[in-house]
Amino acid sequence: MTNEKLRELFNDLSLDEKIGQLLQVAGALYDEDALTTGAMDYFKITNEELDTVGSILSVSGAEKLKKIQDECMAKQPHHIPQIFMLDIINGFETIYPVPIAQGATFDPDMAERLASMAAREGAAAGVHVTFSPMVDLVRDARWGRCMESTGEDSYLNGVLGAAMVRGYQGSDIKEKGKLAACVKHFAGYGGAEAGRDYDNVELSEHTLRDEFLPAYEASIKAGAKLVMTSFNTLNRVPSSANKWLMRNVLRDEMEFDGVLISDYAAIKEMVNHNIARNEAEAGGLAIKAGVDIEMMSLCYSRGLQELIKEGKVDPKLVDESCWRVLVLKNELGLFENPYKDASSEDEAKYILCDEHRKLAKEAAIKSFVLLKNEDNALPIDQKSTKKIAVIGPYVETHDVYGSWTFPSKPEETCVSLRQGIEKYVDSHKVNITCSFAEGSFFYDRPSKMKNGVTYPYNEAKQAEMIEAAVKEAKTADKVVMCIGEHAQQTGEATSRAEITISKGQLELLRRVHEVNDNIVTLVFTGRPLELEEVTKLSKAVMITWLPGTEAGNAVSEVIFGDREPEGRLSMSFPYKTGQEPCYYNRFRTGRPNNGTLEQFYVNGYIDQIDRMLYVFGDGKGYTEFEYGEVLLDNTKLKTDGSNTLTASVTIKNVGNRKGSEIVQMYLSDLYGSVVRPVKSLRGFKKVTLNPGECETVSFAIDESMLRFHDINMEYVSEPGECKVYIGHNSDTENGADFELI
Ligand code: GLC
Repeated sequence: MTNEKLRELFNDLSLDEKIGQLLQVAGALYDEDALTTGAMDYFKITNEELDTVGSILSVSGAEKLKKIQDECMAKQPHHIPQIFMLDIINGFETIYPVPIAQGATFDPDMAERLASMAAREGAAAGVHVTFSPMVDLVRDARWGRCMESTGEDSYLNGVLGAAMVRGYQGSDIKEKGKLAACVKHFAGYGGAEAGRDYDNVELSEHTLRDEFLPAYEASIKAGAKLVMTSFNTLNRVPSSANKWLMRNVLRDEMEFDGVLISDYAAIKEMVNHNIARNEAEAGGLAIKAGVDIEMMSLCYSRGLQELIKEGKVDPKLVDESCWRVLVLKNELGLFENPYKDASSEDEAKYILCDEHRKLAKEAAIKSFVLLKNEDNALPIDQKSTKKIAVIGPYVETHDVYGSWTFPSKPEETCVSLRQGIEKYVDSHKVNITCSFAEGSFFYDRPSKMKNGVTYPYNEAKQAEMIEAAVKEAKTADKVVMCIGEHAQQTGEATSRAEITISKGQLELLRRVHEVNDNIVTLVFTGRPLELEEVTKLSKAVMITWLPGTEAGNAVSEVIFGDREPEGRLSMSFPYKTGQEPCYYNRFRTGRPNNGTLEQFYVNGYIDQIDRMLYVFGDGKGYTEFEYGEVLLDNTKLKTDGSNTLTASVTIKNVGNRKGSEIVQMYLSDLYGSVVRPVKSLRGFKKVTLNPGECETVSFAIDESMLRFHDINMEYVSEPGECKVYIGHNSDTENGADFELI
């Protein structure tokens, strides 16, 4: 529809209809099979309100959505089509690794391809918008939603978030197989106090602007059509009421002119924050902050008319928001084609097709992070190994998707570890006998999780499972342990006070180790975990995250050596939970410690060395690389941006098999008008080399990479001494000096 026509339609709408366009309700109101992503019991909406609703979330299926669209449009006074929105976070039906694992790929091209694949499947199922990418900076592994972020580095998050936006949206969201992307959660949600979900966030403006905002901005600059507000207060103002954040920062500074949607009932929940005495007041605050769509609460539909009558809310605010919603519907082409791409034929053609499965498997392999590999315990030597025992609760389960996926039948479509290994051994005629034992429950007690399922525990059964596993381990040449955090222990509302593997699983590992120390341990998780004991008891440790539909196939190809694990850590792994929040780009202190406990009156702890067990960027493959020194073509970089430097390093594959390395470039601005992080990631490149092969890897450095908010909150670079590091992980000291002049 032309803008003029859209304006004509808009001008014809009643205030009731305009307010209706600002309401989003759950699909469960239209389809009892639809999943809900939040509470529903409070939501008592009238049919009249339902008749003017503007969008619907959390329901999918081509024929189902066509039917709902028809019914809704028939009731709409002006037959305005619905927008259907869904959390397509790591795949629609073909599930790929959770976002923290995608962060570990350090591969924006892969992120874009995965998003494009998910869009194709979701669009075929009638979805128009995905509530992704989530680019919240995460530094505290106690927060369950680390799983949904690509990690602790805002530069990496911005690169990957922008890639996902491109993948979902393509060049035009009207195009077939494309979705509008919704960047979330704006802003600072990952900074929740002590990792407690929904808790308050206190960030200095420097930290907010230099660390937490850049990834949102990068994703918005990539063209994201929507932004979602976060549940948290940011410096004592709930995001959905935060005019400074939403109008000054998001709309004015970031020039975002798309739709701003609240998170699930976040507007209503401002009453709980005691920032509003009632829902009408909360609605008034939100519309003034510029929140366009109210997800799953009725503050707008029940309060705005009165507030406008009382002169407390300017009706123009409703006009602005309603216009942005109509513009989005028009950009999606819904006025011409309310079904957009909904097609049961395309569902059958694209969902879980071989091409999609192949990509999901590739992504999983690129996300696995090998952290320890003593005596080349991996890959499994197929010549000398006669029997392996595959042990742990992850052996049989299909629940390796993460909690933001709504796949139809994972037990039919997901390849479990056991299925993958049995298929591999059979198809590759591997002369290895494999035995399988679950060995332990996931939890140490019966545990009801937010999906409503109570996961079992039984002491006698636990003991029995451990004995059975130990028996298998005794006669095996090698043990493959498959343990970790349960998929339902990560994601929204899963903050944990101890980021540990269950006691039962650790007991299993100890007992197995007593009879066989040739153990490779695969750790399934949505966040960093305490792995000191796992590391001690294993010859190899590989983080497999939550790998998705092709889990068993990806793991098999890596442990049997067809492929090497290619990932690098997207978050730091501490020794102890008490060290959280953890992140590599810390500030120096006045009393630096030397990584031991032999000092006094220094920064750190008296009971734990102040170091990470595994650092951001860490990981290895099945070969070794050597780095040459960092060479600079110039050592003077001008603050006026009139020149760039090129930093180069030659790396060599000194191992005996082809392999990949993610070369990481960090910059350190040694002095500033405010303190500066010890180093910050500003570039990465993946190289693949044959044994003995060398490659020179270069990075262009420009002045903008060194900008930050100075003592006067000006976004500038300041003259002074700097260093560039190029190395294997964030601990690298392989560097060269240069000066900003
Ligand atoms: C949830 C989440 C948000 C999600 C939304 C819709 O509460 O916070 O990430 O997109 O509701 O399901």
